[in-house]
Amino acid sequence: MPISFNQDSLSFDLFAKDLQYTLYIDENRRLCHAYFGKRIKNLNVRHISDLYKRAYGPNLSLDIIPQEYPSYGTTDFRSPAYQVQFKDGSTVSDLRYVSHRIYSGKPKLEGLPSTYVDEEDEAETLEIHLKDEIGKFEVILFYSAFEDYQAITRSVKFVNFGEDIKILRALSASVDFEDDAFDMIQLSGAWARERHVVKREIKPGIQSIESRRGASSHQQNPFLALARKDTDEWKGEVYGFSLVYSGNFIGEVEVNQYKDTRVLMGINSFDFSWLLKTGETFQTPECVIVYSDKGFNGMSEIYHKLYMNRLARGRHKLAQRPILVNNWEATYFDFNEEKLLKIAKEAKILGIELFVLDDGWFGRRNSDNSSLGDWYVNKEKLPGGLNGLARKINDLGLKFGLWIEPEMISPDSDLYRAHPDWCLHVDQRERHLSRNQLVLDLSRKDVREYIVETISNLLKSANISYVKWDMNRNMTEIGSAILPAERQREVSHRYILGLYEILERITSQFPDILFESCAGGGGRFDPGMFYYMPQAWTSDDTDAIERLKIQYGTSYVYPPVMMGSHVSAIPNHQVGRITSIDIRSHVAMSANMGFELDLTKLSEEEKDKIKKYINDYKKFRNLIQFGNFYRLFFEENEVAWIITDETRDEFLVYYFKVLGEPNVKQRRLRIKGISNQKRYKLDGTSEIYGGDELEFAGFLLPELKGDFQSVFLHFVSV
Ligand code: DGJ
Repeated sequence: MPISFNQDSLSFDLFAKDLQYTLYIDENRRLCHAYFGKRIKNLNVRHISDLYKRAYGPNLSLDIIPQEYPSYGTTDFRSPAYQVQFKDGSTVSDLRYVSHRIYSGKPKLEGLPSTYVDEEDEAETLEIHLKDEIGKFEVILFYSAFEDYQAITRSVKFVNFGEDIKILRALSASVDFEDDAFDMIQLSGAWARERHVVKREIKPGIQSIESRRGASSHQQNPFLALARKDTDEWKGEVYGFSLVYSGNFIGEVEVNQYKDTRVLMGINSFDFSWLLKTGETFQTPECVIVYSDKGFNGMSEIYHKLYMNRLARGRHKLAQRPILVNNWEATYFDFNEEKLLKIAKEAKILGIELFVLDDGWFGRRNSDNSSLGDWYVNKEKLPGGLNGLARKINDLGLKFGLWIEPEMISPDSDLYRAHPDWCLHVDQRERHLSRNQLVLDLSRKDVREYIVETISNLLKSANISYVKWDMNRNMTEIGSAILPAERQREVSHRYILGLYEILERITSQFPDILFESCAGGGGRFDPGMFYYMPQAWTSDDTDAIERLKIQYGTSYVYPPVMMGSHVSAIPNHQVGRITSIDIRSHVAMSANMGFELDLTKLSEEEKDKIKKYINDYKKFRNLIQFGNFYRLFFEENEVAWIITDETRDEFLVYYFKVLGEPNVKQRRLRIKGISNQKRYKLDGTSEIYGGDELEFAGFLLPELKGDFQSVFLHFVSV
């Protein structure tokens, strides 16, 4: 049983494989935190709840008590997990335990994405009902513990039985640790350099990551981890927190005066509030909390498997993903049917399986100045319409995919001329453009209906097998024309709820279509989106060397099968770098391989190599897309990772060297994550290596000359 209640100590134990999470109800009916970490045989909660009496003498101070969902205004001076405002303007509340329920399975979250179970016995859920007696509202804390994944999930539901209240802050999880000997890990960056790993020592005070951009953002991923100081890829304790949400979020780590550490995660309370009327409920997103004592790879493996199997949904989630060619970097807006077909023909010869038509096919869209919202085909570019083009692509033996950006509107569009109030805006304020576009107000039902109807008709109009769903700006002037004044601060969250409703309706209506999400590259690369679309465009940066950092960081939480990775032209369009077709292919072959360049301009030698790499990819596709991905190391000039199958019978090694060096030292790669009981043959040779030999003595890499070199190896057990 993953969850149990001990009547004597009034404590709850949650077990998820080797993870234990323990909480208890104290003598004042407050819900306190006892322990989070490795599963232990005997934990006496009385020993844990026996705390030093500090600061307040005989008076109780919540400032020293580890809590499960801390309030504001009642002696805890740290950041609270929530805050509400009552009719009289006061903001103090106090939650006490009322009841609890333990049951099999895991409930769905109202209107929000979450991890799930297929069968009831895959998880157990604990609901704890807490109540503020004076304000007459209840907070239900949901905890689910999985049988097969070393993870628990947390979310919170507010229920109002009293007079109307305003929720000012409603985070999804709060965890108090009794010390501060941690580093904080975050995935940070910018457009075209998303999710680089950043590690910092935590210090007294608050350190946080957040987004106020209306999307989870390129700048900070909704993930943070606390890691013990000696943690590396393979050993050490790591606590991961990942939020299943695509909008404004916050992840906060606070070290207080006693060097206790509090981790908070949820919807960003900046510019947020929610009016909760009598009888209404408010559901927070889900936070997925992982414990690993096997270092960062241990944590990543848990997230990868959980997100691949119990976050992603639909027919495609465990189906092999096609190798695609996308025309964006090949043509940008400048194309016609003939040009596209030439690329498609070449694609077929090379072994590519899917042709994706990117931006520029609709309205009068010959630049990014116009037409978002006018989802009808540009007959000058495509005289046979989408259907005509799709047929020709299909006749070549390729599937056809389409780019759309349904959440946006160009001021120069028929849609905007007809509905100027359909975008997010604040009356009388300038509507700031970004990439010449505005954001549709998805908090409005009429706008949502328009999008679902238009996009559904579009997707029915041709044989479309794949959709790239893009979103290319951050939000400003976040206001809605139809919400009353007291609800304007709900708009950014209502937008995300509206988006999720649209995605649910469209993706369930078209179960055969493979959806890939995108937001100017990786601006919404988050678990929320993966619930609807099983893969995402990792970054607009297609440079192989920058991609090493991006894909390395992304892999902390997300498996290769969720990352789009394309071979593009040289000099690279984002950084101007010139790299070989080999390293570009090897980087792309580490995830969902694709191409994004004019294939008709390749040399014969490049084409031959690409054919070979595509063949290799097809041969190893299952292993690459659904195997176990482990990072070996990321040093200044060298990066390595491996992908193995579950049984360790077969694995791929990827090694990248950025700059060439003179008089180079012997480079032996110590390969971990494989079986040291097995013996392995290196593909293409007759050499046999012991797994232990590879792990401890290492594999002598070939001597590499020149910049931007890579090695790709396949070992099979004998
Ligand atoms: C941003 C995406 O990330 C690109 O791949 C491309 O689809 C452009 N938008 C098109 O406008």
